[in-house]
Amino acid sequence: MTYRTVHVALGARSYDILTGEGLLPQAADFIPRALPKARCAIVTDAHLADLHLAALEEPLRAAGLLAGPPLVLPPGEATKSFAHLEEVSSYLLDLRLERGDAVVALGGGVIGDLAGFAASILKRGIRFVQVPTTLLAQVDSSVGGKTGINTEHGKNLIGTFHQPSLVLADLGTLATLELRELRAGYAEVVKYGLLGDAAFFDWLEANGAAILALDPQALGHAVETSCRAKAAIVAEDERESGRRALLNLGHTFGHAFEAWAGYSGVLLHGEAVAIGMVLAFELSEKTGLCPAGEARRVAAHLESAGLPASLAALRRMTNRELPGAAELAQLMAHDKKMSGGQLTLVLARRIGDAILSRDISNTQLTEFLDTQLERI
Ligand SMILES: NC(=O)c1ccc[n+]([C@@H]2O[C@H](COP(=O)([O-])OP(=O)(O)OC[C@H]3O[C@@H](n4cnc5c(N)ncnc54)[C@H](O)[C@@H]3O)[C@@H](O)[C@H]2O)c1
Ligand SMILES: [Zn+2]
Repeated sequence: MTYRTVHVALGARSYDILTGEGLLPQAADFIPRALPKARCAIVTDAHLADLHLAALEEPLRAAGLLAGPPLVLPPGEATKSFAHLEEVSSYLLDLRLERGDAVVALGGGVIGDLAGFAASILKRGIRFVQVPTTLLAQVDSSVGGKTGINTEHGKNLIGTFHQPSLVLADLGTLATLELRELRAGYAEVVKYGLLGDAAFFDWLEANGAAILALDPQALGHAVETSCRAKAAIVAEDERESGRRALLNLGHTFGHAFEAWAGYSGVLLHGEAVAIGMVLAFELSEKTGLCPAGEARRVAAHLESAGLPASLAALRRMTNRELPGAAELAQLMAHDKKMSGGQLTLVLARRIGDAILSRDISNTQLTEFLDTQLERI
């Protein structure tokens, strides 16, 4: 079975991301290579338990690597909670996992973030293997070591940096993913082109349809290029003191839309980010940073992938009156990418060249949002 390797260079915390078809059944080879002698405990959700768990569990059990039966949690964002953190922690303690042992997270970003967080605090940190099964998790959440849960105060406000020891991104698992989830993950793929790789964006314009049709060549290239882009940024700035914040392109707008829509499944994260990326380019054009026409090109590509790419699309899909500009700006300010009371936004000089900006005042942002809302 062929697979490709992306190395995340973080000194003693370095690890490999393996991408390819048919990796799950080979986990019993790959995990001991990364973590000799580790006993494994699988954490997953009920969807994966029906679809892909056996392909991972059986070889690990046959090799004598499992410390106990898998823990199967309910699917959905609500699982990233204190209550489920307690459940995962108790499960791992019951199995008597030690520091050299590994939590194996089989699932999307929800399972990866929760199980990774549990691993990071159990006995002050045990090892952790990501087996991402959504496109979003394969290109984004499984790489880079951010873990965490949500509280009633907001998303991801409790968490740690805890790098995995290995990421096994089996492209074959994406065959069972709903098209809407696949498209939402694709928004994050597009993000890597937009923020730092114009040639990759050109390639996506030509190959986006093949990726969404799960063509193995196109999908493999897209996942590998995305992981490489994220790995390079994380290697430079593990704890997001600077450059890593570029990965938030479209996210400050997107988080505001998600908070307003209420994490109910009406608006997926990737859908919110798609609209947010278009607005980031619109704002970049408005401030004169970026030549006219780039935002239109970004929107056209996202729309061709079946993603929402405007505030009008946001209103259509949520079927609700949108909040006013001041309220949206307020929601953006609540996003945690604030420092010293000033919002840091990711803007762009052109497609493939994003920058961090602290130059946009609240008044400018509100005016901009007002003009965008008038267009609906
Ligand atoms: N840690 C990070 O750096 C980071 C980055 C981005 C997002 N995130 C987090 O990731 C989460 C979102 O991740 P997600 O989009 O993967 O959502 P998710 O984990 O909720 O998965 C989406 C849905 O797809 C199902 N599913 C997963 N794999 C499947 C498969 N192969 N076949 C069929 N169904 C499958 C899940 O059961 C779930 O119902 C959010 O909580 C977000 O905050 C974290
Ligand atoms: Zn994202």
